[in-house]
Amino acid sequence: MREKQRLAEARPLKTLERVLSKAGLGSRTVARGWIGGGRVVVNGKTIRNPDHWVDPQRDRIAVDGKALRSAAKAYVLLYKPKGYLTTRRDPEGRPTVYDLTGDVGTWLSPVGRLDLDTSGLLLMTNDTDFAERIANPVHKAPKTYLLKAATLLSDEQIDRLRRGIELSDGPTRPAEVKRLRDSGKHTFLEMTITEGRNRQVRRMIDAVGSKVLKLVRTAIGPIRIGDLQIGKWRRLTEAEVRALMVAIPAGSRQRSDPRR
Ligand code: URA
Repeated sequence: MREKQRLAEARPLKTLERVLSKAGLGSRTVARGWIGGGRVVVNGKTIRNPDHWVDPQRDRIAVDGKALRSAAKAYVLLYKPKGYLTTRRDPEGRPTVYDLTGDVGTWLSPVGRLDLDTSGLLLMTNDTDFAERIANPVHKAPKTYLLKAATLLSDEQIDRLRRGIELSDGPTRPAEVKRLRDSGKHTFLEMTITEGRNRQVRRMIDAVGSKVLKLVRTAIGPIRIGDLQIGKWRRLTEAEVRALMVAIPAGSRQRSDPRR
């Protein structure tokens, strides 16, 4: 194992599974399936081990007999409606975000996820580095939501959200919270979090004694949903992709305290 690691450091070796998925051809799970199915040949030899080390500069890699070439990078912004799952397929046959994007000419994977009952901005891409930058909480990508609470929220409740909330899976980081308005029995908030744990916003609001009635993600970093119609998608411009990468610098992977 040490020898393999030493080799990997000396030369730009990567696992076969990683190289296929980085080429933008499919997720790592999909790549494993191809490799296991004997569809991938390296230097003339069928390789069935997804962890086989390859040098993408020197080794000849082919899938189904075709030389591996990187797919053009694609970045899609979808306005996901409620009622659509952020998965490829659903055993229960419910609609998924792929029913909305259709065929965009390349494999796409959602960047993080939105709950079935959340609507709003969902990024999809075949660029695994980009996806990692946005979805991995170490990089603290700010994700902004509009929400309607089931009750009026006091300043004290809102301050608790701002300070961070103790959830069953640990404390959240502090959130940016703006009271937009109180209307009848409801408070409307804009809330920005930098993690993206499972149902995080809903659980934070539950923890201060209310409930989310409606949740819409309106922005990730500088990218806003703007006037895109619900259920529609568009490609990000190059300038938008660059702006996201600048706004969300790669964070340290060493940190263990989620509040930092
Ligand atoms: N927080 C939630 O509770 N749900 C989402 O879909 C996203 C963030």
